[in-house]
Parts: sequence; structure tokens; C-alpha cells
Amino acid sequence: MRFLLTGGAGYIGSHTCVSLLNAGHDIVVIDNLSNSSPVAIERVEEITGKKIAFYVGDCCDEDFLNEVLDNEQVDAAVHFAGLKAVGESVSIPLRYYKNNIDSTIALCNALAAHNVKRIVFSSSATVYGNSEIVPMREDLPLGVCTNPYGWTKWMNEQILRDLHVSDPEWSVVLLRYFNPVGAHESGKIGEDPSGIPNNLMPFICQTAAGIRKELSIFGNDYDTPDGTCVRDYIHVMDLADGHLKALEYATVHQGVETFNLGTGEGYSVYQMVAAFERANHLTLPHRDAPRRPGDIAQSYADPAKANRILGWKATHTLDDMCRDAWNWQSHNPTGYPKEDA
Ligand code: NAD
Ligand code: UFG
Repeated sequence: MRFLLTGGAGYIGSHTCVSLLNAGHDIVVIDNLSNSSPVAIERVEEITGKKIAFYVGDCCDEDFLNEVLDNEQVDAAVHFAGLKAVGESVSIPLRYYKNNIDSTIALCNALAAHNVKRIVFSSSATVYGNSEIVPMREDLPLGVCTNPYGWTKWMNEQILRDLHVSDPEWSVVLLRYFNPVGAHESGKIGEDPSGIPNNLMPFICQTAAGIRKELSIFGNDYDTPDGTCVRDYIHVMDLADGHLKALEYATVHQGVETFNLGTGEGYSVYQMVAAFERANHLTLPHRDAPRRPGDIAQSYADPAKANRILGWKATHTLDDMCRDAWNWQSHNPTGYPKEDA
């Protein structure tokens, strides 16, 4: 089959390109490169030995999307494109609402105009808000989000549910990711945060690389086994395979289904530091620091629904995640080469 991936040059999108191509599918990628490099697409082609139809452009631009879909016939779309920095979304909320919501509406209009009514959407565990009921199951009531980024995911889920009510021919799969980390085992593609990273693993990697002096551990007095926050870290290649399964599901089912993509295991920040040191035989300078505003003590998935219905299960271990993250970072200390961009 042939799939459209918006935001396919980004971190999760590029790894999903590899999974889909290796499974024998064709792909078309649209990305405005606002948070990614075209080198990611070249590297995916290198890893898979296959070509990608790649269009640089904005998913909020419906005319542009229509032009792409006039040229490229696809069976379904995965909508990764979006802005994702939680802190930044608090400073520039309108940009987040505009980009993340307009792009979904424009994409659905363009898909429907081409009679493609199958979409997989990149949602997030953030829609559970500050609920601390764990493990988190898909039928947990949606929470109150703590930032505009989270609300864009919450609203996009609602928009897609409403779309299906209006036209039951739509097949919508909402994937709620937990904490994606790691990289393709080749070390050719990985997470390349621009500016100051947002997430724990890039901070760990940059500290190990000497780019940062030490890792700050935000809060050691939470109500968790060792006092630091617990999260469900999932290898990005497991997440990528979840998209393959979700697309296969969306092509044979109509309706709206929501799936958690997580391992079901929670690890604390201290455990992550220890695992990274163990897997990579190095020492990571770190110190305890005050809590980060907005963090909840623990968040981990109940992935049983995805296991059962999609036939998907995360298989990579925490050591795999730490090893592959460092393999990418150490081979690409400054991310993708900028001169090729
Ligand atoms: P990313 O920033 O690496 O990838 C997103 C891609 O979308 C980038 O390549 C960016 O250039 C592109 N993009 C953004 N706005 C666009 C637009 N208007 N038109 C065209 N392209 C556009 O982020 P990621 O980590 O790969 O995340 C992919 C998706 O998954 C996002 O929607 C994100 O919110 C969601 N998500 C990510 C995480 C995470 O921790 N990484 C967790 C939960 C959900
Ligand atoms: N942390 C540190 N030091 C750092 C960075 C992070 O101790 O330098 C801690 C955080 O306090 C948190 C844990 O590491 O306890 C994980 O933090 P991340 O920022 O990596 O991940 P979050 O779970 O806070 O956020 C992620 C995504 C968001 C999404 C949220 C809820 O980044 O997009 O999950 O799903 F909204």
C-alpha cells in the first residue's frame, strides 16, 4: 500500500518511514522542515535502499496538500506534523493552536476531496492530563491539560471523532504515545532537537557527550519508589512498528479507535540514569534539582488494547533504548549535518 506521512522528516516520522518501507509499503512524505532536516529523508533512503516521494511544504496549506494528492495516490495518512515543545507552547500558544489544528483540518479536507478517509493521528499521553491513575487505559476520562500543546492534542482527537460522526466512512486511529526514546540501530537517524532539548533522553545524551556539564534531576521527593518521576519510555522503533499495525488496521476497519503505545513499564529518572550508564559503560554527571513545574509523579500505559487488537507489542528493552540513543548521539554529536540541509 501507499501511505502519506505528514511530518515524516521528524523524529518519529523518519523512523516510521523505515518501518513502512521495510514492510514493503510505499510512502509519500510532506514536511515543512520547521523542526527537521532533509538529511533525515536521505538517511532513511540509505537505510532501506528505497526512494521516498518527498514534498517540502506546509500542511496548513490546503491547496498545497491538494496538489500533492492530485499527483500521489495514497491509501491512508499518518498525521505526525505538529509543533511539540510543551514550554514553547505556553509562550506562543496561538502559533501552536494555529499550526496543530489548522494542519489537521486542512489535511482532512484534502484527504476527503481525494476520497481517502483513513487517518492515523499522533496523539499523546498528555491528553490524560494530570491524572495519576496508573496504568493509564484508553477509557480513562480525558484530563485537564496543563499547556496549549496538550490541548491541541486533546482538540485534534475531538475534531477527528466529530469527523467520523459526520461521515462514518472515515477510519480514524488515535495513537497516544508515551515517552519515545532511542534511535534506529544503524545510528543514521535519531532525535535531533533544535536549541535546548525538551525531554530527558536528549539531555542525558548531551550530558554524556560533554555538551552539558551535568544532568539536573527534577525532583526527588515524589511519591514514587525512589522519589523521582516515573515514565513509560518506549523505543522509537517499537513506536514506528505501532504505526505499521495501526495503518494495517485502519485500512480494513471503519470507526474511531484509540490505542496507547507504551511498554506498560514505568522507570524512574534515577533508573534511566543508571540504565544509560550501564548500557553504555560510562558515567553520567548528575545532580538533584527542584521539581519542574507541571510534572506528574507517574505516567505509564496499559498497552493491552494495542497488544490485543493491533497485535502489537513493544519488544525493545531499556538497555536497547539507552544503547541506541547513545549510538545516534555519539555518531552525530551535532545532529544531522547542517551544510546538507
Ligand atoms: P518532530 O518535531 O521531530 O516531528 C514533527 C515534524 O512535523 C517535523 O519534521 C516538522 O518539521 C513537521 N511540521 C510541523 N508543523 C508542520 C506543518 N505545519 N507542515 C508540515 N510539516 C510540519 O516531532 P516528533 O517527536 O517526531 O513528533 C511527531 C508527532 O508526535 C507530533 O505531532 C508530536 O506532537 C507527537 N508526539 C510526540 C511525542 C514525543 O515525545 N516526541 C510524544 C507524544 C506525541
Ligand atoms: N527530567 C529531568 N531532567 C531533565 C529533563 C527531564 O529530571 O533534564 C525528568 C522530568 O522532570 C520528568 C522525566 O524526566 O520527570 C521525563 O521528562 P520528559 O520531558 O522527557 O517527558 P514528559 O513525560 O514530561 O513529557 C512527555 C512529552 C510531552 C507530553 C508528555 C505527556 O515530552 O510531549 O510526555 O505525555 F506531553
